[in-house]
Amino acid sequence: MTTTEPPMPAQGASAAAFPLGAAVTADALAADPHPVLARLRDREPVSWAPALGCWLVTRHDLAVRVLRDPALFTVDDPRFSTARVVGPSMLSLDGPEHARHRDPFARPFRPARTRERFTAFVAAEAGRLVGALAPRGRAELRRDVAGPLSVAVVARALGLAGVDAATVRSWYGAFVGAVSALTAGDEPPAAAAGARARLRAAVEASLAGDGDTLLREAAAGAGLTTAEVVADAAVLMFGGIDTTEGMIANAAAALLARPDQLARVRADRSLLPAAVEESLRFEPAAAVLDRYATAGTVLGGARIAAGDPVRVSVTAAGRDPAVFADPDRFDVGRGDAGAHLAFARGPHFCFGAHLARLETVAVLEALLDRLPGLRADGPAPARGLVFRKPNAVPVRWDAPGE
Ligand code: HEM
Repeated sequence: MTTTEPPMPAQGASAAAFPLGAAVTADALAADPHPVLARLRDREPVSWAPALGCWLVTRHDLAVRVLRDPALFTVDDPRFSTARVVGPSMLSLDGPEHARHRDPFARPFRPARTRERFTAFVAAEAGRLVGALAPRGRAELRRDVAGPLSVAVVARALGLAGVDAATVRSWYGAFVGAVSALTAGDEPPAAAAGARARLRAAVEASLAGDGDTLLREAAAGAGLTTAEVVADAAVLMFGGIDTTEGMIANAAAALLARPDQLARVRADRSLLPAAVEESLRFEPAAAVLDRYATAGTVLGGARIAAGDPVRVSVTAAGRDPAVFADPDRFDVGRGDAGAHLAFARGPHFCFGAHLARLETVAVLEALLDRLPGLRADGPAPARGLVFRKPNAVPVRWDAPGE
């Protein structure tokens, strides 16, 4: 989920040692990564990819090892561009500083509190968005449902007085623009500084108020400064907007592309949570996670040098045949899909996971409840190197009067 600048070449990694990695292109990975990743996982499970400027880890067990060892594979590196836009936050720190930032925010996102705080809101929002489409007979689910719901939920989670979903969307857009500019080696656009100033003002107002908000709760016990709360609030936007939009779009697209699987969940709604886990395994919205080696080490036979960038392919781990039988088959009845790495592992494990699952199940419920005869209205292939999701998920259904 992190974004890095093109790094220096690693020591000792040659095209001769990693021929498959040497042939990897960013375009092939963005379009259809699965065949390329399958070959890598089988023959070069930790491979140097010159086109990406990093080591690529494709085996599930090795991916878990990297994610669980922040002392050796850290996020805390000046090349991490998100930290340069929003400041140091839980996403860019490790060790005790990471825990200081993360713990107070993670607490309100535990499963029971997530259910208590969000179930009714999410169901109502999903029902409202899908219900408004019902008379139309056709729609594009990413733009019409997944995007607006994911922004509305993050806006609600932040609970900033007077800051609506459209404002949160515009701030987020400014931050993403700045991260992209930095990644390309350009100056960040002025809009990001403006968004950060307005976010800071809204956070200050929230901390000074007497409402029972997430930010007040987070800041209260942990001794975080206002600047730190602002950075962590921005990380909630980074964590919860594009990813959740992608997760909802990918789950809907996977089911719509397979009428037999859609019929199974239609006949037995209790399969919906398993269908969502299977879509996280099959096409995770956050496709890669970036770390930096803090010391020389050997992983999967590859000699990694201190400072080398190490990229975990969550996408590849989800199709590892050592963990998932017949991994290229999408099967809502698979019992072990939850072993996917779509929400990472280790200290940075996504604490928004329960909320994102709640949102995705709520959307699928609303689609099945309110759009009779729902079916795909064209292909919806996922695309993207860092975030993967379809550009559009066109659907149609039997609208009244059609
Ligand atoms: C409302 C929804 C969400 C919220 C509020 C949220 C929030 C966060 C936050 C704050 C972090 C940083 C945790 C840390 O560094 O300690 C994080 C990490 C992460 N999130 Fe989420 N998230 C959400 C949805 C999602 C979704 C839908 C996905 C993917 C399907 C996802 C994947 C991840 C991953 C992979 C990480 C770990 C990043 C890393 O290790 O570098 N998140 N999330």
